[in-house]
Amino acid sequence: MKIVKATPTDLNSIVAFNRQFHLDIPGFRWDTKPWIAEQIQKGTFHVLKDGNASYGAICVQTAIYGLPETDAYVETIATKEDLHRRGYGKQLVDYAAELARSEGKSRLVVESFVEYGVGDFYTRCGFDLESTSGKFGDHPYNVFTMKL
Ligand SMILES: CC(C)(COP(=O)(O)OP(=O)(O)OC[C@H]1O[C@@H](n2cnc3c(N)ncnc32)[C@H](O)[C@@H]1OP(=O)(O)O)[C@@H](O)C(=O)NCCC(=O)NCCS
Repeated sequence: MKIVKATPTDLNSIVAFNRQFHLDIPGFRWDTKPWIAEQIQKGTFHVLKDGNASYGAICVQTAIYGLPETDAYVETIATKEDLHRRGYGKQLVDYAAELARSEGKSRLVVESFVEYGVGDFYTRCGFDLESTSGKFGDHPYNVFTMKL
């Protein structure tokens, strides 16, 4: 099992992983082919693999507009639909934390729509729920942070 930087051959599997969290909100781009292809090109997607099989993917931003220099941001995470609760999501989070540390970041941040109901996943992975929250369209999201 290893986590590697995604290449264009990973596009379809990442689209399939990310469709699990699709929401019908105008501007929702995180499961679309063009956005994922662009991120693969930028090198922000990382895939958990066992041989040729892919088990999940995480998108980690370390330099985007508005992101404090001290932060890294998990923009998406999803593991294969029939392989949830096997520790793969945590492996991806641990990898993101290590990647961020190696770039001198002191905080890992993730935002998650409340309706996903996955807050406990983040806290079990070592994130703290922040008191600040936000809204995208009419959909509220929580903010989680992890000190690195
Ligand atoms: C959320 C998601 C990435 C978690 O990945 P996973 O591989 O199932 O998670 P893990 O098996 O590594 O779980 C790590 C810990 O979180 C817990 N956990 C995982 N999913 C959970 C959930 N939905 N609710 C509560 N706890 C959860 C596990 O029990 C485990 O706890 P433990 O360490 O005490 O045993 C996965 O369920 C997924 O892809 N969901 C669909 C897409 C999605 O919602 N992505 C998040 C968008 S913000």
